[in-house]
Amino acid sequence: MSQKVTTGVRPTLRIADKNQIPATEPERQYYFMDIAKEYLRQLSEEKGSPLTFHVSTFGCQMNARDSEKLVGILEKIGYVEEDSEEADFVIYNTCTVRENANNKVYGRLGYLNGFQKKNPFMMIGLCGCMMQEPTVVEKIKQSYRFVNLIFGTHNIYKFAELIVTALENSYSEHAAGHGTSMTIDIWKDTDKIVEDLPVERKYSFKSGVNIMFGCNNFCSYCIVPYVRGRERSREPKEIIREVERLAADGVVEIMLLGQNVNSYGKNLEQPMTFAQLLQEIEKVDGIERIRFMTSHPKDLSDDLIEVMKNSKKICKHLHLPLQSGSSRILKLMNRRYDKEHYLELVDKIRAAVPDIALTTDIIVGFPGETEEDFEETMDVVRKVRYDSAFTFIYSKRTGTPAAVMEDQIPEDVIKARFDRLLKEVQTISAEKAGALTGQTLPVLIEEKNEQDASLVTGRLSNNSVVHLPGTEDMIGKIVDVKLLECKGFYYMGESI
Ligand code: 5AD
Ligand code: SF4
Repeated sequence: MSQKVTTGVRPTLRIADKNQIPATEPERQYYFMDIAKEYLRQLSEEKGSPLTFHVSTFGCQMNARDSEKLVGILEKIGYVEEDSEEADFVIYNTCTVRENANNKVYGRLGYLNGFQKKNPFMMIGLCGCMMQEPTVVEKIKQSYRFVNLIFGTHNIYKFAELIVTALENSYSEHAAGHGTSMTIDIWKDTDKIVEDLPVERKYSFKSGVNIMFGCNNFCSYCIVPYVRGRERSREPKEIIREVERLAADGVVEIMLLGQNVNSYGKNLEQPMTFAQLLQEIEKVDGIERIRFMTSHPKDLSDDLIEVMKNSKKICKHLHLPLQSGSSRILKLMNRRYDKEHYLELVDKIRAAVPDIALTTDIIVGFPGETEEDFEETMDVVRKVRYDSAFTFIYSKRTGTPAAVMEDQIPEDVIKARFDRLLKEVQTISAEKAGALTGQTLPVLIEEKNEQDASLVTGRLSNNSVVHLPGTEDMIGKIVDVKLLECKGFYYMGESI
């Protein structure tokens, strides 16, 4: 296929006549999708091939789900997905929970600029948590003028409308006279939840489902409440409707997403607890596995433990962030539980669901952390014996209360503690791995094995990885697998 040579020639759009923009959502966004589709058609004609996109996602499951929403809209308006960042529209969905996440984005923007210089069709978009920080947007405006579109976490539902504005600002005759102009739309907060927009799932058989947005906890180290806004729960009927649709579409596993799922439903007109929501979701035929993330220990109720105990579908895995084992540090962190409460909770959960896998998040080097405080963390790690743990070096986030606390810990001290913790966590994980060897358990087959084409890879209810001989047609199915052997952190098995 021959392709026109367009390098250096700036594309221009014939601007659509917008006369009846709907006032309500999601109709308004579907209207803009139609306009964007027409713009894409014009640009593709000029380019001589379809325009491509690439979305890079940083950070958590929440961002991964948001990216599926971005992809849903991009595909709906006619962009074609491209594996590499040499695409006509590259979007970074950013994370800002730790400082190094920000630095990574700046580094990669320079590299994207190189591609853009060679491709006059190329647009660069930035969204996600990092864009909710005014200093970041200022820096991009100053030093990264080539970025075409910036938006935040609260108005992602407006993506179609923003694409239309960005295309017009970048490729209209007006823009041609003024050089590329940035389209920026950041909201400080929102109470809005827009339903029924397109989503393109990464996996056919499993899906994230947002049940709530934002966080009200203000842990003193954490930037999330500032960039994701106040807590708001989706209506249960909307959640159930989405889950039913997913089930009808072949999804067998769902992951309920929220910054603190245990406080689900508090702000609804008709309040509902997370435990009650789970019981409703359990009733949806076709859904075989239910996961959720993240649980705050302070809000984990006895009712929830009871529901987990009696459920046939809730997976035997609980991610329960500890952050620190020292009650003194937990108080400074504003976590609103102490070491004793956390350990009691773990006992209760294990008594109710004996074979549950427990995982956690731990921060090392919070301001004021003494050797004794750190030993308390090590003590909890040894007592709980986590199946795995994410360990983080404390990162100072401007605007959070912890950033201005006295007694920030020197880097070398943190590093030494971090290494000790990591070693302990890994030793325990290794000792615990393999506990299920010899048993036959259901495995959801997720993908072909990357190294060995004769194998497929899946997960147990407790989230452990299993490899077994199999073929691609098994993907998305739950099969009974005999766990023959444990190698490090995964099992080798055979389907029965
Ligand atoms: N520094 C280090 N780790 C952090 N986390 C959140 N904020 C910070 C920070 N400022 C960690 C917490 C949280 C996980 C998602 O990221 O452990 O549970
Ligand atoms: Fe951050 Fe705490 Fe909210 Fe989790 S619960 S997002 S750590 S403020």
